[in-house]
Amino acid sequence: MHTISRFSAAAMLLATLAGPALGQRAAPARPTPSAPAKDQLPPAAAPVVARHALVVSAHPTASQVGRDIMQQGGNAYDAAVAVQFALAVVLPVAGNVGGGGFIVYRDHTRTAGTLDFRETAPAAASRDMYLDASGNVVPGRSTAGALAVGTPGTVAGMAALHKKLGKMPWAKLVAPAVRLAARGVALTEKEAAGLNRTQADFMKYNPGSPPVFVRPTPWQKGDTLRQPELATVLQRVQDQGRAGFYQGRTAELLLAEMKKGGGLITQQDLNGYQPKWRDPLRGTYRGYDVITMPPPSSGGVALLQILQTLEPYDLGQLGYHTPAAVALITEAERRAYADRATYLGDPDFGKVPVSQLLEKSYNKQRGATIRPDGQATPSTALTAGPGLPRYESDQTTHYDIVDAQGNAVSCTTTLNGAYGSKVVVAGAGFLLNNEMDDFSSKAGVPNMFGLVGGTANAIAPGKRMLSSMTPTILTRGGKLALVTGSPGGSTIITNVLQSILAVVDYGANAEQAAAAPRLHHQWLPDQLDVEAGALTPAAEQTLQQKGFNPKPRNAWGRLELIRVLPNGQLEGGADPRGDDAAVGY
Ligand code: GLY
Repeated sequence: MHTISRFSAAAMLLATLAGPALGQRAAPARPTPSAPAKDQLPPAAAPVVARHALVVSAHPTASQVGRDIMQQGGNAYDAAVAVQFALAVVLPVAGNVGGGGFIVYRDHTRTAGTLDFRETAPAAASRDMYLDASGNVVPGRSTAGALAVGTPGTVAGMAALHKKLGKMPWAKLVAPAVRLAARGVALTEKEAAGLNRTQADFMKYNPGSPPVFVRPTPWQKGDTLRQPELATVLQRVQDQGRAGFYQGRTAELLLAEMKKGGGLITQQDLNGYQPKWRDPLRGTYRGYDVITMPPPSSGGVALLQILQTLEPYDLGQLGYHTPAAVALITEAERRAYADRATYLGDPDFGKVPVSQLLEKSYNKQRGATIRPDGQATPSTALTAGPGLPRYESDQTTHYDIVDAQGNAVSCTTTLNGAYGSKVVVAGAGFLLNNEMDDFSSKAGVPNMFGLVGGTANAIAPGKRMLSSMTPTILTRGGKLALVTGSPGGSTIITNVLQSILAVVDYGANAEQAAAAPRLHHQWLPDQLDVEAGALTPAAEQTLQQKGFNPKPRNAWGRLELIRVLPNGQLEGGADPRGDDAAVGY
């Protein structure tokens, strides 16, 4: 693993002075991002360090739940089940039982795998279901309301994970979530603000049955959110496993909601939902082995393509967020996202040319078109790479867990948009996803993340919609080195990329990597998104002159990282943009 030789002096000083107690964050104060000095990563709060096991998630209570499970003898997979259900309670904006996700894992025997519990299109879904009679996309139809909902995969995914890799009794893993839902949780300021922002949508999409999230006066930080209906659903899941969600009373309530709102999910869809174990994608980057998610995520393919394109360049030498480094990274992103739009989709519904996209020679060719003078290639002048077979056919959340044995879980899970479809199943109290918007409703028409797609990601019954979720694990010399991931829709891939570059190329610690201000380019629209503090004014001006079209954008993504230190201890980086927390022992 990289040493800290390239830390900024300020970061080094901060980390040294603040030396945290094991398992705790020692310096809760978050520095406000400010323009970084040239070539240097900005300082961040001191990372949490744990001796045995660590959980980093988007909510301190969920992280504590995972830590407790491992302290009681559970492994990382048991903790993942408990964290997933806890997040469904404490983080309604993205934690879920009504959504889906992906897990990349690596166990202490070095076996790695992935679990795909992505939602699927209901059997009654059809390619043009979001178009009007003239063939135009009807705004909003794929993004909110019952028609936007894909068949949920989360509960089936957790049951499959537990069956294959867990060791504690299932009931013990669901119990903390049942308790949290029944007793209530104190809202953080950000959660209160999120619920307040969504009041009108909750009313609109749940006519006649205002959900527990609605109330006449604004939510405040510290208010208790009790979710008794969700507690009952979780209790059924605790007692009956998968059947407690996909059958019986929970299923009846979900189907009644579909009937009321014109949704498509049927009991056959629920019965037929299957999570899938898939072989991970593997690549290398500067001596690290990268283990990541295959399609139906685009994340792993795009991440490995970008890393391949960047590897010939010494980014550390070019400096952190200098125009030369940013130009290279942006051009690599632009090319990978152009390929994403054309070639990627559900591999169970059409062949996806993964091996061709990950050929070293292919990405070398793509990289050869990057201009050596640092000038941008306009996206209008760049399409997907030619010659590959084309086979017809802000809100998500992430957690990382490493246990005392060295088993590692990287999981990204989602309702898609904030609070998903905004539909809360009446009588069951859980939010349903709006994942259908991740399909390409019409070729070339952008979805809610501005992403375009084509036939490979067209809607079809039972098909999984293309995702950007990129749960990723890095090893070095056979040893676990880094567990990383992020939410953020189309930005997920570049968030994860930046976490890897920060650690590998710029010597960041986990918290610095999570906190560093970000950049993002996704081919179309042709603009470089710039978070406050990510570029010096001079760098921004140079990039503007070189044709990169930098645009300020409010903070995005929530990176969570666990870095294994040379002494074997675990260092957690929890994104300071949210309520995220690293908790270990
Ligand atoms: N719903 C966001 C993604 O899967 O990429």
